Amino acid sequence: MKSLPFVLRSAVAVTLVLAVSAASAASQERQAVAGDPPTPGQRVVFVTGSTGGLGRVVALRLAGQGDHVIVHGRNVERGAEVVEEVRATGSGSARFYQADLGSFDEVRALAAAVRRDYPRLDVLVNNAGVLLDGGRLESADGHELHFHVNYLAGYLLTFELLPLLRSSAPSRVVHVASISQQPIDFDDPMLERGYGQGRAYGQSKLAQIIFSMDLADELKGTGVTTNAVHPATLMDTDMVTELGMPVRSSVEDGADSLMNLIDGENVGSGGYFDQTRHSRAHAQAYDRDAQAALRALSVRLTGAGG
Ligand SMILES: NC(=O)c1ccc[n+]([C@@H]2O[C@H](COP(=O)([O-])OP(=O)(O)OC[C@H]3O[C@@H](n4cnc5c(N)ncnc54)[C@H](OP(=O)(O)O)[C@@H]3O)[C@@H](O)[C@H]2O)c1
Repeated sequence: MKSLPFVLRSAVAVTLVLAVSAASAASQERQAVAGDPPTPGQRVVFVTGSTGGLGRVVALRLAGQGDHVIVHGRNVERGAEVVEEVRATGSGSARFYQADLGSFDEVRALAAAVRRDYPRLDVLVNNAGVLLDGGRLESADGHELHFHVNYLAGYLLTFELLPLLRSSAPSRVVHVASISQQPIDFDDPMLERGYGQGRAYGQSKLAQIIFSMDLADELKGTGVTTNAVHPATLMDTDMVTELGMPVRSSVEDGADSLMNLIDGENVGSGGYFDQTRHSRAHAQAYDRDAQAALRALSVRLTGAGG
């Protein structure tokens, strides 16, 4: 909170106190922790992982042009700060929901809260992601953690929100993938044998792209489009700086790439974009057998999309 002016810091603190009492009274149901509802007719954009990094900058840009943003992440304080930053601009609006995407129960509860609180959803941006240091980790549901947070959670969230996206058409799904793409070994998708950080991250990012292409076929003619994007290489976000990697581009570059798919005309559906350029992904993304294998695996693991 140190980065915020005093007035904003106080507002965040008050909001958090109110939110904690509301949350404890709210049994199992997930409540918005902070923020304001949309006004009638306002476009609603859900950006997962918008408490920091790329997602936060995109959330602020969207609000700056008058949209309502569903802000999401695990960190309640940073989420409330983003909501206050939106309020301080006097443009658009935002509400924050806390959920750990490393748990399918939390993904389902998050989706249920969005369905309960929003009569429409114009854009879903599956942006939340991790690049983890150290050895292999598993999610609450027992899956390799990159695969779970970066891919499976977005897969499940998309299907949980698809009826809302369909009824709000024309609507869009944007998958924030990466140029780091590694083929999935369907005999060892959880990397129980050949674990490596780059491999785990890369296969989770390619899985997002394969899913987007497969989903685009399913959604043909519905008015719901889906695209995947490499936002920019080595942006100045926590993901990069906390691992000591060299920064090569700004988060504003990455935000331009996302805004192109959120707002751009003629971006179509089922595409992979390298920043704003329509591009070619790893060959496995176009392999129908791989698409079917990933779908079967994802249905089995999440129970959604069958
Ligand atoms: N940085 C790059 O150069 C780069 C390049 C290519 C692609 N990308 C992709 O761009 C996306 C954004 O990355 P970034 O660089 O902005 O990363 P970041 O600064 O680390 O931000 C990640 C965001 O995801 C949220 N998040 C992480 N784990 C979560 C979990 N288990 N549950 C819920 N939310 C979670 C974080 O919020 P909390 O901490 O509050 O949970 C945060 O808001 C990622 O998908 C990444 O793979 C980044």
